[in-house]
Amino acid sequence: MALSTQPYKGARDFYPEDKRLQKYMFKTLRKVAERYGYEEYDAPILEPLEIYLAKSGEEIVNEQTYVFEDRGGRKVVIRPEMTPTVSRMVAGKRQELVYPLRWYSIPNLWRYERPQRGRLREHWQLNVDIFGVADSSAEIEIISLVDDVFKEYGASTGMYQIKLNDRQLVNYILREYLSLDEQAAYSVSKLIDRMNKLERSVFLGQLDDILSDQQKQSGAAEKLVAILDTKSIADLPQAIKESGKVTALEATLSALRAAGIQNAVYDPTLMRGFDYYTGIVFEVFDTDPENNRAMLGGGRYDGLVGLFGVEPVPTVGFGWGDVTLSQFLISHKLVPELKPEVDVAIVSTGDIQSEVAAIAAQLRKQELNVAVDLSGKKLGDQLKNAEKRGLDWVLVIGENEIKSGVLTLKYLPEHVEVKVALTDVRSAIQDK
Ligand code: HAM
Repeated sequence: MALSTQPYKGARDFYPEDKRLQKYMFKTLRKVAERYGYEEYDAPILEPLEIYLAKSGEEIVNEQTYVFEDRGGRKVVIRPEMTPTVSRMVAGKRQELVYPLRWYSIPNLWRYERPQRGRLREHWQLNVDIFGVADSSAEIEIISLVDDVFKEYGASTGMYQIKLNDRQLVNYILREYLSLDEQAAYSVSKLIDRMNKLERSVFLGQLDDILSDQQKQSGAAEKLVAILDTKSIADLPQAIKESGKVTALEATLSALRAAGIQNAVYDPTLMRGFDYYTGIVFEVFDTDPENNRAMLGGGRYDGLVGLFGVEPVPTVGFGWGDVTLSQFLISHKLVPELKPEVDVAIVSTGDIQSEVAAIAAQLRKQELNVAVDLSGKKLGDQLKNAEKRGLDWVLVIGENEIKSGVLTLKYLPEHVEVKVALTDVRSAIQDK
């Protein structure tokens, strides 16, 4: 039986045309992150299991990690996210690093998920995190950076929506306002996290299973549902508004508005799956209903670095996946025409291989990307080949051109050609 040519389930091969889109996406992400002063870091794809056990959350650790035992009997995980790794790295140099620390990375991550639209087993994820800022200027910088990335891609405000919530507000609502014990509060928060994937009746049934009789009698379910249906902070019950727990959210939302970001809203159903978040959390959604998943998510997590036995560092950051980003760019028609990285192809006829090689070398010295056709096919076929590859420029060389020093440079998209000396090829291409 022949071997399968398919990649591993839920993972992608990147043929050059796919890689071209990925390179375009990453180039833009890097450009904007660096524009805000963030520096790129990297780390191994394998981590010890322990670093996820404490704070990543049950679902990701028990159901979604690729975990195995290495030959030395250690439990090893293929990283499902970058946040524990970057926290480990910061903790490792806690004293030497200069704060605020602005770091970014674009790691590939693995999660054992059921592959579906927007969700795969391997994805790449831009991670941008700022370490060492305790006040909301960190959230505002991070969300402004996200907004600038969208603008850099040419997106307009109506194409995406930024949703915010605050873990401290959620904790207050569940523990104090609804008087749930710690276990019930945790279970309810996990249920709310899945809420948008469930029918309302299923959600209510599961909520009923979590709450004790006493909690039900005190009207906890009805009160919670009323809060989850709220569309703005102003519509929350008076006791919650007066608790002091909405201040951070209000300040962040109004600072974002002042910074010209009009599409940020409070969403009481936004939970974020990870246990490590301690304050503001946010997600950005594509407004195209076909892409109904969060494109990116993040928030404040002030306790993770401290888990590695050093003094804690307040941190805000997010992860932005390539799968949902490419769907966003494609569905909103924001992908520019992406060509192969070849500036010019050389097609030739006659016994002039060494002369052609010398010409190619000269052009490469001028920093042009040059692909020499080595097929030995007829000139017409070589030209067709260049066209099929989507190339713009072709230099046609035969024995006469070598003798006269006058080369034929064709611009394939318009089927036009010019006669040029070798020294003029670069400017002819760049002036177009
Ligand atoms: P997350 O919400 O799990 O957060 O992932 C962030 C984004 O990565 C998602 O919104 C989605 O675009 C993408 N993503 C996640 N899983 C998959 C998947 N299986 N297939 C395709 N795309 C996926 C985190 O990972 C946090 N560690 C982010 C963070 C950084 N928080 C603070 N700093």
